Amino acid sequence: MSRKITVIPGDGIGPDIVKSALAILEKAGCDFDYEFVDAGLTALEKTGELLPQATLDAIAKNGVTLKGPLTTPVGEGFTSINVSLRKRFGLYANLRPVKSFKGTQARYDNIDIITVRENTEGMYSGLGQKVSEDGSEAEAMSKITRAGAERIVRFAYDLARREGRKKVTAVHKANILKSTSGLFLKVAREIADEYPDIESAEMIVDAACMRLVMNPEDFDVLVTTNLFGDILSDLCAGLVGGLGMAPGANIGKDCAIFEAVHGSAPDIAGKNLANPSSVILAAVQMLEYLEMPEPAEKITRALAEVIESGDRTTRDLGGSHGTTDFTDAIIERL
Ligand SMILES: NC(=O)c1ccc[n+]([C@@H]2O[C@H](COP(=O)([O-])OP(=O)(O)OC[C@H]3O[C@@H](n4cnc5c(N)ncnc54)[C@H](O)[C@@H]3O)[C@@H](O)[C@H]2O)c1
Repeated sequence: MSRKITVIPGDGIGPDIVKSALAILEKAGCDFDYEFVDAGLTALEKTGELLPQATLDAIAKNGVTLKGPLTTPVGEGFTSINVSLRKRFGLYANLRPVKSFKGTQARYDNIDIITVRENTEGMYSGLGQKVSEDGSEAEAMSKITRAGAERIVRFAYDLARREGRKKVTAVHKANILKSTSGLFLKVAREIADEYPDIESAEMIVDAACMRLVMNPEDFDVLVTTNLFGDILSDLCAGLVGGLGMAPGANIGKDCAIFEAVHGSAPDIAGKNLANPSSVILAAVQMLEYLEMPEPAEKITRALAEVIESGDRTTRDLGGSHGTTDFTDAIIERL
């Protein structure tokens, strides 16, 4: 019987890029059985709910989900469905790799960095969010736990070992945020001692941003708290040609959701302009998670060949083609 995968097409550019990834998985010989469900704005329109029970059930039952981006209203409106899903399913590790592909418009050609972001705590805990009645004051609470910090730092070192990586850098702001970032750093230092075979480094987040832009080759695995990880991983996407090239896996104990790092890109939605590479690479992460290295390698190779040759690439990659032409070029190579 084929493996069942939950698919959430998302909104904005989501349905188009997810369609592209599914066509590529099929061509690579992956015989999955897909259960399509909705979340966010699409679900709200269809069912009146942002996160219907059927969606939650499918995610829990199938264990593995491929997801398109979901719009979250900025500054007001409903709470992020992405954050809700990560918390509800205990998806504590957000794995965001960036790798250079020849032929992109990127400033560098030697990048291979993974950001391991704590995905359920910190500034995204959603605790204590308040705006005073007169609108003059706002507050929110950040919470870091020893258990949460230990879990994510260990995840980063285990990943480094598994992938033969050399160095883990803990990124923090413990000089100012002495309680939260302070606890994270203390735990990171303790865990580092358990992994003498991996080089350990630590860096304050502002300095890390500068160093990432100036000397990205100094970095290998980054491990950090929720908000810093969110920002740093977009910065890392910029090192390899932009958000169109950055996938992300949300991993928990029994469940995983694979998606692009980027959002629903409302400025290009419905125009056949989106680069589907991020969600294609998220599908590759999914195949690796499912221990299916062969189609994962085949898809990565075909994508790399298309980008390097410039055959029907999208605008962000320097080409003049749309999502569908780019997808066809990859499918032809497969
Ligand atoms: N995981 C998620 O579902 C997720 C992640 C981030 C943002 N969001 C949501 O997405 C919405 C839009 O956010 P935003 O505009 O700040 O960020 P965004 O990531 O959607 O877009 C930022 C810029 O990058 C471009 N871009 C993004 N993906 C691209 C692709 N595949 N190909 C080519 N260009 C691409 C966009 O056109 C835009 O100019 C917001 O509601 C936000 O909350 C969702």
